[in-house]
Amino acid sequence: MRTIEWDDDRDCIVMVDQTKLPAEYTTYHAETVADLIESIQLLRVRGAPALGAAGAYGVALAARRNDADAFDAFVEAVRADADAIATARPTAVNLSSEVETVLAELDACSSIPEARERTLARAEEIADADVARNKRLGEHGADLLADGDTVMTHCNAGALATVDWGTALGVIYSAQEAGKDVRVIANETRPLNQGARITTTELLEHGVETTLIPDSASGLCMQEGRVDAVVVGADRIVLDGGEAFGDQGVVFNKIGTYNHAVIADRHDVPFVVAAPHATIDTERSADEVEIEQRDPDELREIYGVQNAPEDTDVYNPAFDATPMELVDYLVTETGVYEPPLDRVAFEMADEPATV
Ligand code: MRU
Repeated sequence: MRTIEWDDDRDCIVMVDQTKLPAEYTTYHAETVADLIESIQLLRVRGAPALGAAGAYGVALAARRNDADAFDAFVEAVRADADAIATARPTAVNLSSEVETVLAELDACSSIPEARERTLARAEEIADADVARNKRLGEHGADLLADGDTVMTHCNAGALATVDWGTALGVIYSAQEAGKDVRVIANETRPLNQGARITTTELLEHGVETTLIPDSASGLCMQEGRVDAVVVGADRIVLDGGEAFGDQGVVFNKIGTYNHAVIADRHDVPFVVAAPHATIDTERSADEVEIEQRDPDELREIYGVQNAPEDTDVYNPAFDATPMELVDYLVTETGVYEPPLDRVAFEMADEPATV
């Protein structure tokens, strides 16, 4: 199945429950808007494009669960639910932007049944579009890799972070389809271990030779010449760096990404960001992007076992900011771009580059 989809029989959202991986591959049914918000916050569904689909289906779910009789009251209630879904996690732009896209359907509706039908149809289109563009993105990115390359990746930007196929791991799968033997070094990705729990599961299922490392070993791996390219996804890319980064763009991705980018730069390892245009926020600057802060207990405990004294002060940001000066290639569904990404060049470039 896809990472997230609509269950017609139960008339609700069904998703792979990623909190259970790798021990169990199970699904979770979000029957209500509250179930969906909880799923987003617990990371049952996670990864920017999958969160976009969750937001899109979430508006359809809100429209189906709302029992108002009058259309105006219905629209008001769906908008309130949509707002709660859009803000369930702040950093990945896809969540709020796809909520907005589906919500806009309501403007063209004049009855509750029509609104229910149109919001679900639009959400299905968004989910299908994600799969199609990831395939295109993967093919562009695969051109950057040579047979025999070893790619380091961080967190999980695979099929399970999207509706299907993935972005960073989609590049690996497309290279594999093109007949290239590509190996992967997967960073564990503390504290929630998306690399260890999810990326390795996915890659092994695809028959990709994979080595898991602790995050802190990435420097040694690059120093020892074990890495030909680092390929990661993104939660939000801005083209305006704001006060902190000036006129260069910034990639917000899983905490630790910046560390790997700095080390890759030090060792001349190409640093590649693979993300769809839907992850590029052209409206905000880096100053306006909120980095999600997670529960301190994610560090004070490991899988329910105490890892630090209960009252330890904790700083637990979920994402960090990598300036474009550290990014060698940005791969999207329309091609491969070499920063600096001045807006015009970014929109005009169409010829894929090669590493
Ligand atoms: O906290 P998560 O697991 O949602 O973080 C996911 C990432 O940081 C991914 O790299 C990003 O969303 C890109 S997914 C194609």
